[in-house]
Amino acid sequence: MRHTTHFQTRKLNCLSKRDKSSAGRIDPRAVDICAALNEREEYYTTSSCAGRCFLYCGDGIKSWHSAGDNNNGGSISRVVEDDEDNEEEVAVNSNSDDASGKLGFFQRFRVNHDLVHQPQRYFDLTTLVGGQDPTGGGDPIPTIGQFDQGNNAGFKSKLDETSKSASFVPTSPIWLRFEPFILHVMCRSLKAASTLMALARPAFKNVGLTSWNNGGGDEGDHVEGDGSSKNQQCKGGGPRFLVAIWGDEGLDMPLSLPSSPGQGLFYYPYNGDGEGTAKNAEWLAQLVNERHARNWKKIDRFVEAMKGLEERVVDVQHNNNVDGAIHGNDRVELADEDCYNGDHDKIDNGAGASQSKRASSGLPIPRSYDVVGDVAILNSLPEGDKDTQRKVGEWIMSRNKAMKICVARTNALSTAHRSPGASGLVQLAGPPRNPVITSHYEYGVKCVVDLQHTFFSPRMAPERLRLSQSVARGERVLVVFAGVGMEALQIAARTEAKEVLAIERNEVAAECLRRARRMLERNKTATCPGGGKGAVERLSIIEGDALDILPTLEKSSFDRIVAPRPKEGTLDGDQGTGDAGKDFLMAMLPLLKMKGEVHWYDFAADHELPNCDRTRETVQSVCQSLGLEMEVIHVAKVGSIAKRQFRVCMDFRIMRGLNVESSN
Ligand SMILES: C[S@@+](CC[C@H](N)C(=O)[O-])C[C@H]1O[C@@H](n2cnc3c(N)ncnc32)[C@H](O)[C@@H]1O
Repeated sequence: MRHTTHFQTRKLNCLSKRDKSSAGRIDPRAVDICAALNEREEYYTTSSCAGRCFLYCGDGIKSWHSAGDNNNGGSISRVVEDDEDNEEEVAVNSNSDDASGKLGFFQRFRVNHDLVHQPQRYFDLTTLVGGQDPTGGGDPIPTIGQFDQGNNAGFKSKLDETSKSASFVPTSPIWLRFEPFILHVMCRSLKAASTLMALARPAFKNVGLTSWNNGGGDEGDHVEGDGSSKNQQCKGGGPRFLVAIWGDEGLDMPLSLPSSPGQGLFYYPYNGDGEGTAKNAEWLAQLVNERHARNWKKIDRFVEAMKGLEERVVDVQHNNNVDGAIHGNDRVELADEDCYNGDHDKIDNGAGASQSKRASSGLPIPRSYDVVGDVAILNSLPEGDKDTQRKVGEWIMSRNKAMKICVARTNALSTAHRSPGASGLVQLAGPPRNPVITSHYEYGVKCVVDLQHTFFSPRMAPERLRLSQSVARGERVLVVFAGVGMEALQIAARTEAKEVLAIERNEVAAECLRRARRMLERNKTATCPGGGKGAVERLSIIEGDALDILPTLEKSSFDRIVAPRPKEGTLDGDQGTGDAGKDFLMAMLPLLKMKGEVHWYDFAADHELPNCDRTRETVQSVCQSLGLEMEVIHVAKVGSIAKRQFRVCMDFRIMRGLNVESSN
């Protein structure tokens, strides 16, 4: 049990941190697999890269950097990428005095996580000279404008140095490298690690396990450790199991010769044979793009395998824990043999009864309950008289001293605000509290929840983690239907978004969000630039109806829209006549920049999964009427709302527009 607690604490610490990569977010193609792992109790990801290509010169070995090896006259590396190995920290350190002799001989250019779309630009080595075309159409290099908050001094100085590379002239051959998918996952037990390796192997042949016992060892050396006091607390606590999974799609080939490093062997725009040499650039792009495509397919296969992994099959140790455990998403599940079953029709006094405190209590203890702040919430009233219900509440509270009251829902969340209402919660145990307000922590960020008058689900924590991991440095993010604001608070406190705007109609929820925003100012664990204060400065709240407010906002100004739309009654779904939020889509899509992304939450029945064609058609038809083209990036079930009815999230990107002007 203590090992489990240590693991949970380390997981929380690790996932609460801001992403250290140059984009400030997880590689978009790796978000799904990270989410599929992080939502499970037994795993958390410590680093990932979905695959990338780049050009480089030098020895090609990152750890060999030294002044002696550097024959480039100290010219500045453009290595600002860091997905799998904390290289950003190395790069930043190399600017400091004590590491001044360590500028890398290994210099990377044109790091690109996507297909090579412009081969003649990307493989033109002549435009590397003097930094004429730093990206070559690959990943955009963060602009100075993205550091307006005074954040990320390391990157700012890196960029300042980059300007000095105007003098860069290749003096050694330029190479092309493709690095396939790589992922590191901490596992709670050896059994969890071997299950993961077995799941990964059909897609990725390269799978390895490192284990060590951390009796005061050096976890801080690993990516997840940062030497912070919080992390120090996690030292000890039993064995560690780290699984590494990587692809085999690698490619490493020279693009030029030592005698003429700046002149491409395959593609050189000035060699006379324009057409022939252009074909070679396309061939090079094909080599890279085919690898990307194969690599992405394997990742998809792995994601599917992860999703197919049943709940709680992995960790025997955990299943035997009769007291249950608080999950990362604050849903407490009790061991099956001890529970009053979910259908409220019997108490199972079966196999485990003799050792089970629950069964021996003789109380109708529910199978599971949520925890929001210091409140335990049962989904429905336990059977029995008031005295029995009080005893159920007290029994649950006795499991965890942090729970101060226990309540039960007595109705569905059918109001416009998706809240139970004043009469929709009955307090079972604990000192009387009315209104039922609490504050709730998620990955180090606190929100305020009025449990009677607002909507909040702690079970959406993994989804909110996925959302914040998708936000890149410098983005303007709009959160419509913000509720008590946990998505907006997470994004403001844990990413390098430039601005976060939250819209909410329910005045109680908006007030909760304003209170949480004030509390954020004092939050010492906020990992965003400027800490809690910085988060507050970048988070704005507008109270009002989205349909009134959205038309007043600047068109083409947001990089990302998060829209967990409310359900519009029982008919909103696969059998429904509701308009499935079309009005909201019509009002919000014009606010997106080209290539901006939307996280659109809809409702679907089990037979509509996994494709969610109805949701696709709705989004597509709105895009069409606005003259926009869209591309679906991801569709996933993110929660269950009723029997065989699910909340789903469709992430899509606006590709091209006729009516909406591009701003980037
Ligand atoms: C499903 S809840 C989501 C809340 C929050 N994002 C979360 O996931 O915890 C939907 C929220 O949208 C709000 N809402 C409903 N219609 C709205 C509208 N027309 N304009 C703004 N907010 C609205 C409701 O008050 C509710 O708080």
